[in-house]
Amino acid sequence: MRVLLVCLAGLLVCLQTADSHSLPQKDYDTDSSKHDITDPLNDTSGNNSTSVPENSSGNLDSNTTTFILRYITTGDKKEYKGIYAHKNGKVKKILKDGMAISDWSPNSRTYMSNKDGIFVYDTETEKLEKYGNLSDSIIGIAKENRTNDLYILTEDHVVYKVTEEGTKKIKVNEAEHAEKIALDWGDNLYYIGANNQPYVVASGGAKKIEGLPSNPTSAFISKPPITIEHGAWFMCEKQPYIIYPNATSEPYVFNDQEKLEYEKRIRDLDVIFSQLDNQPAE
Ligand SMILES: *[C@@H]1O[C@H](CO)[C@@H](O)[C@H](O)[C@H]1NC(C)=O
Ligand SMILES: *[C@@H]1O[C@H](CO)[C@@H](O)[C@H](O)[C@H]1NC(C)=O
Ligand SMILES: *[C@@H]1O[C@H](CO)[C@@H](O)[C@H](O)[C@H]1NC(C)=O
Ligand SMILES: *[C@@H]1O[C@H](CO)[C@@H](O)[C@H](O)[C@H]1NC(C)=O
Ligand SMILES: *[C@@H]1O[C@H](CO)[C@@H](O)[C@H](O)[C@H]1NC(C)=O
Ligand SMILES: *[C@@H]1O[C@H](CO)[C@@H](O)[C@H](O)[C@H]1NC(C)=O
Ligand SMILES: *[C@@H]1O[C@H](CO)[C@@H](O)[C@H](O)[C@H]1NC(C)=O
Ligand SMILES: *[C@@H]1O[C@H](CO)[C@@H](O)[C@H](O)[C@H]1NC(C)=O
Repeated sequence: MRVLLVCLAGLLVCLQTADSHSLPQKDYDTDSSKHDITDPLNDTSGNNSTSVPENSSGNLDSNTTTFILRYITTGDKKEYKGIYAHKNGKVKKILKDGMAISDWSPNSRTYMSNKDGIFVYDTETEKLEKYGNLSDSIIGIAKENRTNDLYILTEDHVVYKVTEEGTKKIKVNEAEHAEKIALDWGDNLYYIGANNQPYVVASGGAKKIEGLPSNPTSAFISKPPITIEHGAWFMCEKQPYIIYPNATSEPYVFNDQEKLEYEKRIRDLDVIFSQLDNQPAE
């Protein structure tokens, strides 16, 4: 089983986790219920993590919702198994065949998508609703910080801006054959294009971000943690970078506190994954 994680809290840590989960992986044809979480900082995986932690003081056991996008990869193909929400120690499936979740948002509304368009989930009421009237098959979604407009990436790798409460879409011609999209807090649009390279969409067209490895085997992009105001988060070869709208980049170095949070996060995620393993995918 393969899972990719996006969460509403403790972003630094979970984004790195997300990357380790998007690494290519060989056959997972059976539901061998071994999740493949790997901890680059400390690789001690215990056996007995099937119960929910009663009172660890981390992010996961409080009121916050952690979203999990569950999929299986076979070769290059991803088979989506749904989006789950983890809150107060419970995991529930909220969107069948879900393919994308929007990044961290300060309010309780999170956007997500599947083959039938856009949905919005309210983490307080725990209700899911169809958003707007588009019916595209959508594999990437991001919401602007200052407006209610969204960007979507459709299954045919085209990027659109979605306005007017999800009823209108405008093609973003600058983004060509995008694999993943993300916005920064200043609402600059980035995408991963050919050869796992990130680009920023600027007024004069898309610009390739400089200063990064040239042919990484995997790449991950997202809104940065809220503590990083400028630029977007990019990961390749397990190294995080901040990429800027002026098309430059710099490596991001975790401090000791962030490392500790990361380790804790991994342990908490382990628990969620074992809960998921005990839930049938369909
Ligand atoms: C990994 O973590 C365990 C406890 O969680 C600790 O005892 C061990 O020393 C750590 N190993 C490394 C290599 O940091
Ligand atoms: C984990 O469980 C397996 C099978 O139940 C067992 O063989 C193995 O020794 C256990 N490992 C640890 C560290 O307890
Ligand atoms: C793990 O679970 C087994 C069986 O339930 C138990 O015998 C063992 O002591 C547990 N190990 C730890 C480290 O809790
Ligand atoms: C967890 O609960 C135990 C007893 O129920 C308590 O002693 C401990 O301080 C708690 N830990 C945290 C981090 O809240
Ligand atoms: C959880 O959130 C609900 C609704 O926002 C609130 O009423 C409740 O007090 C919160 N509980 C805790 C433990 O923070
Ligand atoms: C969605 O609704 C808008 C406004 O009601 C309408 O103009 C548009 O044609 C609709 N689009 C689709 C795909 O149904
Ligand atoms: C994000 O939006 C908030 C609320 O509109 C605004 O205060 C903040 O400055 C924005 N962040 C950035 C980096 O522009
Ligand atoms: C690009 O932007 C970053 C962040 O704002 C800044 O630190 C850097 O100096 C800029 N580089 C150039 C070449 O403008």
